[in-house]
Amino acid sequence: MKSLWSGRFEKEMDSAVKEFNASINVCRRLYREDIRGSIAHVTMLAKQGIVSEKEKDDIIGGLKNIQKKIESGEIVFTVDDEDIHMGIERRLTAEIGETGKKLHTARSRNDQCQIDMRLYLKKEISDIINRLTYLEEIILKKAETYADSITVGFTHLQHAQPITIGFMFMAYFQMFKRDIERLQDTYERMDMSPLGSCALAGTTLPIDRQMTAQLLGFSAPTENAMDSVSDRDYCLEFLSDASISMMHLSRWAEEFVWWNSQEFSYIEIDDSYCTGSSIMPQKKNPDMAELIRGKVGRVYGDLMQLLTVMKGTPLAYNKDFQEDKESLFDAVDTWKVSINIFADMLKKTTFRMDQIEKHLSRGFLNATDIAEHLVKNDIPFREAHAIVGKMVKACEKKGFGLEELSDEELRRIDCRLSRDILGDISIKACVNARMSFGGTSPREVRRQIEAGVEWFEQLIEDERRQEER
Ligand code: ARG
Repeated sequence: MKSLWSGRFEKEMDSAVKEFNASINVCRRLYREDIRGSIAHVTMLAKQGIVSEKEKDDIIGGLKNIQKKIESGEIVFTVDDEDIHMGIERRLTAEIGETGKKLHTARSRNDQCQIDMRLYLKKEISDIINRLTYLEEIILKKAETYADSITVGFTHLQHAQPITIGFMFMAYFQMFKRDIERLQDTYERMDMSPLGSCALAGTTLPIDRQMTAQLLGFSAPTENAMDSVSDRDYCLEFLSDASISMMHLSRWAEEFVWWNSQEFSYIEIDDSYCTGSSIMPQKKNPDMAELIRGKVGRVYGDLMQLLTVMKGTPLAYNKDFQEDKESLFDAVDTWKVSINIFADMLKKTTFRMDQIEKHLSRGFLNATDIAEHLVKNDIPFREAHAIVGKMVKACEKKGFGLEELSDEELRRIDCRLSRDILGDISIKACVNARMSFGGTSPREVRRQIEAGVEWFEQLIEDERRQEER
């Protein structure tokens, strides 16, 4: 089959070259966007008098039929189609005859592939924001449930200070909130239409780019044609957003893995989110968490792939850019499914407070609190730190907790010390007292949850308004 661009060629493409050159197996995913872009384009061509009203109607009718035939499986693309743009254009001429040849007036595949990608990515960004919103909703509910539940807070994976589980949940809430905001920023910046940039330098025909931008729901046309056909910044931004967010999921997934270990036994993951072993009958493995941790590698790879493709490419379009789609699609698919699997696993996970309780007495979680009690008794912090260090040492030898040291033992460490001066250093009292802004006390966590809910409700409201538009 002859290619649509074969006019100046004497020979057919080598079959291996045809296969290597084609992107149809990847970009067929964009058929809806391609047709939507073409409908807007021809609507504009008609308004500008470049094609007639009748020609416009025929072309739009043909495109709609093609969409139906793609969806019913009647149209099957092959490497002869090269890419989705030519695959559809060729079918259009077969469908409606000579008029089909007018569709590609005042555009190029260089701007066409970009309008398709931007339409696609805008839709996917909205979808991913919805998924992250779903995750945030689960986090907020869990944070409320566990607002008073005390667990071990770690630094260097060493017992550090007591925290509430709700507090830890709200830490992750902040991460995914930033992920959503990053996507919103990316969306806003990419919300411009490159259609009508043509090959690289615009056109002599009297097109109206404002009109196509508006018809396709973009805030404006892009400013410079040459930049428009060679810009993949928005893809890179999206892939960076995906990488950062997958990193967040991976960090939490890692916590799930060790919380679920026999050594910790902090959580119970629902059976439906675990797998067994083919040889060890007793096993219940946290495979979903591990798989999400593993999937991050793909998404980082997707980002690095496109960064590397773009590096050193001169203006304007280069065929290298055809390699922008596969990694982007992979990141979209991987990120989407990872969010939902993680969110539902989280929903179905409970914390084993009886087990966690056993860990709270280990590792001197209240040491910093004692130092702060001493500060309140006018002992400079650096001195207090040294005193509590000595207390820890004494306790370690005896296998005691800090609250178990007698008055006499305390006085031996420092003459200013007594049980009274230490005050209430129970783990619960320590947590309740951490009331500084952003701290872990249940009261402060509830304030964080309230602020989170407020942000969340605004987000839902904005989304609802956007959908109405
Ligand atoms: N399939 C191409 C891509 O995805 C479309 C643009 C091709 N343009 C060209 N001049 N070869 O990048």
